[in-house]
Amino acid sequence: MSEISHQQPHRRGPQDGWQVNARELEDAIALVFAPEDEALWQTSVRAREHGLPPISISPLQGKLLQILATACQARKILEIGTLAGYSGIWLARALPADGRLITLEIDPVHANVARESFRQARVDDRAEVRVGPALETLPHLAAEGPFDLIFIDADKDTYPQYLAWAIQLARPGSLIMADNCVRGGNGLPVQEATDSRHTGIRAYNQDASSNPALRSIALPINTGMTLSVVLDRAEHKEA
Ligand code: SAH
Ligand code: DHB
Ligand code: MG
Repeated sequence: MSEISHQQPHRRGPQDGWQVNARELEDAIALVFAPEDEALWQTSVRAREHGLPPISISPLQGKLLQILATACQARKILEIGTLAGYSGIWLARALPADGRLITLEIDPVHANVARESFRQARVDDRAEVRVGPALETLPHLAAEGPFDLIFIDADKDTYPQYLAWAIQLARPGSLIMADNCVRGGNGLPVQEATDSRHTGIRAYNQDASSNPALRSIALPINTGMTLSVVLDRAEHKEA
């Protein structure tokens, strides 16, 4: 790949007072725009008590997913990678009463913790966990789609295949969001691979940014999220 080009240098002038730590800034924004209620807080407590790793999305990411789901009037949401149900609660709360969240999880212990989180948050009427390796459960979902929003947050090696499935299960206008896509820049396909752990994410960003059926952007929120909208065939970009 080529070097990063320095575009629009006139927009890169001094920004006195804005050079703050990104995490502190996100935490400060979250206090105002994404406060956690008891059910979300207790989901993190439940995850810790059951020995699940502390790798849920942040409150700010949860609020962003909610806003996107609301903006596209999502009635059907698919999540790949449930963990304790933290992101699932944010997503399910953006659904109408007859909406549906299907979330895929390989680990039956995680699935049961998430089911308890959904009950406590009173979204168990619309949020359902399906257990199994996602590549085995995804092929059975066609009849339940198309999904309005798909959130990818499971094993990183498989991200490129999850993107292909997401497109299969989407419609024009659907949103596809993927977590952990930027990190320290390691997830971006602009440099030679130096760390094999990021190969899947780099390939994901390469596909998302170049697929003519998608319009995509990577957002520097927490460890980065890549957001794509599925285009109508007539809107397809030149390949
Ligand atoms: N979305 C969650 C965090 C997910 S962490 C949140 O923000 O609250 C990643 C999850 O993906 C873990 O629970 C892990 O068990 C699950 N996972 C890993 N590989 C998987 C696979 N092949 N299929 C389905 N789930 C998988
Ligand atoms: C890991 C996975 C995630 O989805 C995440 O947000 C952070 C870390 C991990 O597998 O280490
Ligand atoms: Mg993640």
